[in-house]
Amino acid sequence: MATQTGSVANLSAVSRIFKGKTGTVHALDNISFDLKAGKTLALVGESGSGKTTAARVLLGLDQPNSGLIEVLGRNLGSLKYEELRLLRREIQVVQQDPFSQLNRRHSVERIVSSPLLAFDIGDKESRREQVIELLQAVGLEKEHLNRRPHELSGGQCQRVAIARALAVNPKIVVLDEAVSALDVSVRAQVLNLLREIQITRGLTYLFITHDLGVAHYMADEIAVMFRGRIVERGDRDDIFKKPRHHYTTGLLSSVPLASPTAEKRISEQDQSLPSPVADDSCNYRSRCAVGLGRDDCKSVPLQITQGSDTHSWLCHSPIERS
Ligand SMILES: Nc1ncnc2c1ncn2[C@@H]1O[C@H](COP(=O)(O)OP(=O)(O)OP(=O)(O)O)[C@@H](O)[C@H]1O
Ligand SMILES: [Mg+2]
Repeated sequence: MATQTGSVANLSAVSRIFKGKTGTVHALDNISFDLKAGKTLALVGESGSGKTTAARVLLGLDQPNSGLIEVLGRNLGSLKYEELRLLRREIQVVQQDPFSQLNRRHSVERIVSSPLLAFDIGDKESRREQVIELLQAVGLEKEHLNRRPHELSGGQCQRVAIARALAVNPKIVVLDEAVSALDVSVRAQVLNLLREIQITRGLTYLFITHDLGVAHYMADEIAVMFRGRIVERGDRDDIFKKPRHHYTTGLLSSVPLASPTAEKRISEQDQSLPSPVADDSCNYRSRCAVGLGRDDCKSVPLQITQGSDTHSWLCHSPIERS
């Protein structure tokens, strides 16, 4: 299947099942989305909903049990090891913890230049030049070159991680809770930096977050995940102004809009859920005020409703909108 016009990556009907001593977890249950060039898709959903698993399969770090993953028109499932390695130049990742994702024994110069070395780009001198440029692009200075991660603040470490991700000039960056560990004021600075860099470098982001205020600030499109499924997907305004899925409205209640500094996290209660269960009917029904009383929610397989070009949902009894 060809990559859709304007899309730089897509997952089609992807499932990922983990089998363990405690049972089977459907971490991804037939999910599909695409990343549009130069845009940000935010993946939101409570802990355990499958966000990181989706990122890992997209990055080629994990294989799905079924479904198709394409990055820049290449089917990941058909690539040989070396082809996949080369494709990783185009899709980089920044993770949550600013400290643990950086090798504490290495200098900033070594950390940021490591992807250049891995792809055999330039010589020592030109790499140093590039690292200095990258540091400046993320608001750090030449004087940071010789620092070690423990000599930097959390925000500075995250800037280093962003510089490293940008080193090989990728087209796509996956940001997995990349600002979650930062203080509120630092978070706003890093978000603004990410937006700036996106525009100057024409980057496409997959932006994973628990924080709906941040999703509102960053995203062009939002996919809401619940127990391995995308239960609603749409442009930012579709999701924030006209949500149709009951889970989405639950998440949105009391979100301070357009504020990257005011946090709305998915509640503790939401985070202690059982693992996703294989079942074609609605897996949200036990928490849904509407679904609890309806037989079809229990027994009829769900199908995606495409409400408009941009907006779709997975619900038998969506919220009515005029
Ligand atoms: N390697 C693995 N082995 C077994 N189960 C796994 C593995 N990776 C993820 N899971 C399970 O898959 C489900 C989805 O996990 P995932 O890490 O993708 O969620 P998440 O949405 O990123 O959560 P969080 O917000 O806490 O980061 C969870 O139930 C998790 O326990
Ligand atoms: Mg995660």
